[in-house]
Amino acid sequence: MSNRIEVKHPLIQHKITMLRDSQTNTKEFRELVKEISTLMWYEVTRDLPLKQISIDTPLGSAEAEVISGIKLALVPILRSGLVMASGIENIMPSIKIGHIGLCREEGTLEPKDYYCKLPTDVESSEVIVLEPMLATGRSVCTAVDLLKKRGVSDIKIMSLIAAPEGLALVEERHPEVKVYVCSVDRGLNEQGYIVPGFGDAGDRMFGTK
Ligand code: URA
Repeated sequence: MSNRIEVKHPLIQHKITMLRDSQTNTKEFRELVKEISTLMWYEVTRDLPLKQISIDTPLGSAEAEVISGIKLALVPILRSGLVMASGIENIMPSIKIGHIGLCREEGTLEPKDYYCKLPTDVESSEVIVLEPMLATGRSVCTAVDLLKKRGVSDIKIMSLIAAPEGLALVEERHPEVKVYVCSVDRGLNEQGYIVPGFGDAGDRMFGTK
């Protein structure tokens, strides 16, 4: 069974197209990533548990529902995951946020963490890893490995777009981890970029080269 959930809402697809456009500038790119992440969050949180409470409305008492019995934490992969976290924070302002920074190890070129700070109660939280571009899948798999080593068992991945190669790797190494994605593109080029993709997401988000 596939672990992939494709979020195909028209608003999201429209905004993904705007991200793909090479004319979209840094400000617009960041705004779009935040907006898409907020819209995707609706799908990622679809199954959150609710409990009944009693409240007083201006017109009397009412039985109502609130989210209860779950702790969530975001873990953006530095640096481009940060902008996704910023979009989600807008609608869940008290959510805890850890950070994982990865670089390539000399020789093997395997991703290795140079920074990892996680919320204190991370092992009892549902953790959502934020990685806008799921390309080879090696970075997200390394991030998931790190989280599992820290005792986290409930993990999801949120990516804006993915390559089939990256999805296959996640499915092979972490079959229980659900991957939320807005588009599965054709594949990777020789440099490991997703095609057609957005180009370098970090550079486009932060105006760097
Ligand atoms: N990272 C990016 O920023 N872009 C890609 O296409 C792949 C990985």
